Amino acid sequence: MRKNMVAGNWKMNTTPAQGLELAQAVAAGRKGVSKDTVVVVAPPFTHLSEVVKATKGHGVAVAAQNCAAEAKGAYTGEVSAEMIASLGVEYVILGHSERRQYYGETSEVLAKKMAQALANRLTPIFCVGESLGEREDGRHEAVVGEQLEVLLSLSAEDFGRVVVAYEPVWAIGTGRTATAEQAQDMHAFIRGRLKAKFGHGDCTILYGGSANPANAHELFGKPDVDGGLIGGASLKAADFLAVAGSF
Ligand code: PGA
Repeated sequence: MRKNMVAGNWKMNTTPAQGLELAQAVAAGRKGVSKDTVVVVAPPFTHLSEVVKATKGHGVAVAAQNCAAEAKGAYTGEVSAEMIASLGVEYVILGHSERRQYYGETSEVLAKKMAQALANRLTPIFCVGESLGEREDGRHEAVVGEQLEVLLSLSAEDFGRVVVAYEPVWAIGTGRTATAEQAQDMHAFIRGRLKAKFGHGDCTILYGGSANPANAHELFGKPDVDGGLIGGASLKAADFLAVAGSF
């Protein structure tokens, strides 16, 4: 189902105490944001339990930033989808470009993570996006189309539970936002691909990459942009809430 949504990707930032403070501030300020907007925060694994407690009943959902590709067992350092879901976490970010780039996550691995997330009733926020070189070569749609294959192999029912985030790698953490037109064009392309496969493009598609209170309104005003996956600007409650109020 298509919804307005803003998700804060804290990445590897904040101590547990700082994270708790940030979560409490988002929970307290959430009442100033439309009830129709889904607000999600994605802290590091170590903070999940406390952040779920701090946001419960405040209309703020919690996401993990990753999950294991396997269900359980001898996978030192991994955290399973079941462990995450058992804390009351509702979402999981999968396929973020930093995971693809620095940890070698391929579509094959991501398909397994997707299956684990869905089997444990977590809503995947599945990230796609091209690098600067790929855009300059005019290959951005081909690259994103290929990344979308992981979704195109899902059942219609599972697809109905997925959120997509388009994050051009060249816009992440660089201060260089995609123009609202570039975001709209790619979102329309993604929605078209999903519609061709599933018969409807009724899926929440977020934009990510240097989105902030100054540019969110223009981005969210585009017909195929349903909200944002927010990195840097999600680390200050006031900025994150301002973005969430930008529909
Ligand atoms: P940014 O990060 O908003 O800091 O560019 C977005 C993301 O990587 O999710």
